[in-house]
Amino acid sequence: MEIKVTFGDISQIETDALIVNLFEGVKHPGGATGAVDSALGGAISALVKEGEFKGELNQTAVIHSLGKIPAKRVIIAGLGKSEEFTADRIRQVSGASLRQARALGAKRVSTIVHGAGIAGFAPEVAAQALAEGAILGLYTFDKYLKNKEQKEIEELLVVEFDEKKIPEVEQGVEKGKIFAEAQDLVRNLVNEPSNRMTPRVLAEKAKEVAERFSLGIEVLGEEELRKMGAEAFLAVARGSEEPCRLIVMRYESDPQAATVALVGKGITFDSGGVSLKPSKGMEEMKADMAGGAAVIGAMQIIAQLKPKVNVFGIIPASENMPSGHALKPGDVIRSLGGKSIEIISTDAEGRLILADALTYAQRLGASKIIGIATLTGGCIVALGKLTAAVLGTDQELVDLLIEVSQQTGEKMWQLPLFEEYFDQIKSEIADVKNSGGREASTITGAMFLKQFVDKTPWVHIDIAGKELADKEKGYLVKGATGYGARTLAAAVLKM
Ligand code: BES
Ligand code: MN
Ligand code: ZN
Repeated sequence: MEIKVTFGDISQIETDALIVNLFEGVKHPGGATGAVDSALGGAISALVKEGEFKGELNQTAVIHSLGKIPAKRVIIAGLGKSEEFTADRIRQVSGASLRQARALGAKRVSTIVHGAGIAGFAPEVAAQALAEGAILGLYTFDKYLKNKEQKEIEELLVVEFDEKKIPEVEQGVEKGKIFAEAQDLVRNLVNEPSNRMTPRVLAEKAKEVAERFSLGIEVLGEEELRKMGAEAFLAVARGSEEPCRLIVMRYESDPQAATVALVGKGITFDSGGVSLKPSKGMEEMKADMAGGAAVIGAMQIIAQLKPKVNVFGIIPASENMPSGHALKPGDVIRSLGGKSIEIISTDAEGRLILADALTYAQRLGASKIIGIATLTGGCIVALGKLTAAVLGTDQELVDLLIEVSQQTGEKMWQLPLFEEYFDQIKSEIADVKNSGGREASTITGAMFLKQFVDKTPWVHIDIAGKELADKEKGYLVKGATGYGARTLAAAVLKM
């Protein structure tokens, strides 16, 4: 789909579907929606009056124009209550209304910029959210289907009535494309089944991104990891026939500037290993590389928007499988940083590969570290499938992520890292053990990771449950969400 911006009067546009909007509770639409309502002889007001359209968030109604305006049909999109309006709601409404247009078979769609006329909303921000929602909402993963959903919107025309706002709207749309296309890349990586998205393939995909957007990349194999002494990472990988990879992407800006490391968990399939998971729902563990994929997506955005910071994207990629070679409960291993780890559960594998990746990030000279991982099932118990947990040693970095997440709509909430939680992962025979049991597992998981970070400001984002959506909603579709890439990139851009 191509997105174009044009100056003009929406009620005069020739198109298959024209998208206008309405806040909940509004009886007499104004602005662009009002103009279209008048041209249609009050058809929109009538729907509102009859209670058929309330303007609830993401609600849509379709009116055929029957020649009264050049547009074939009008889609009214509900914006929800005006006092609850956010940029993320623009994203949602954009996604929901474009999916509606696609379902109607529209090839050419026109829309106004939701929220552009509202005080406090910069046209650029609104236009970016609009473009993001449109691209994200129309995402499909149908490469393995013989009968694909044939319909596809060819062109989205963003119509702005105020000529002065056009450059800002254009800029917003351009940015929105960059962010959403990266998120769709993450979705593609996560939706791909694990037999086709092995650590080697993930490394190849990272290389493709690096080449296309002129990033540096280095991929370390088992031999190099063994020489280095990354035993915690290799301990997870050795149960699998698939060789592991340590992917290191590099965005270089000013050598004087700070260096941020984004570290993402890249378990391409988590069976649990010898501590085997129950089979129900195990297929979802193909998405256990969603943190790593989010880092690749963030690097793609960063490469295009070129902030004045240096960024490493570090992704330890491995399968977690049971076998005669596999790691076993009770084993003791030594990490790259030198600390010993007692294995309680081979299903607490993410923290093992991340421990070595964190050490590696520090050796590369990172001055700030942001980790992202589908680390604990407990994160779903604590915060559900909507909100990620943030924990860290640097409150400024935590605050930055939470602030940015409010703009990206990828909700995050802080959990504490009180030192007392270390008791749960204290080992009798090693420096630390890899499981603290069920209680506060998101916190003890982060507390484990903290043992492998020295003085570098560090934040960990637990996205378990946020990587997959069970149903379509707003700009999300069923399957991989692509969560995290936009927020990571936006945080780096704000540094
Ligand atoms: N990948 C899982 C966490 C997970 C669970 C992600 C559900 C998405 C949905 C992780 O490797 C894991 O198994 N964690 C264990 C840790 C425990 C053994 C300390 C968990 O949370 O049960
Ligand atoms: Mn696991
Ligand atoms: Zn896992």
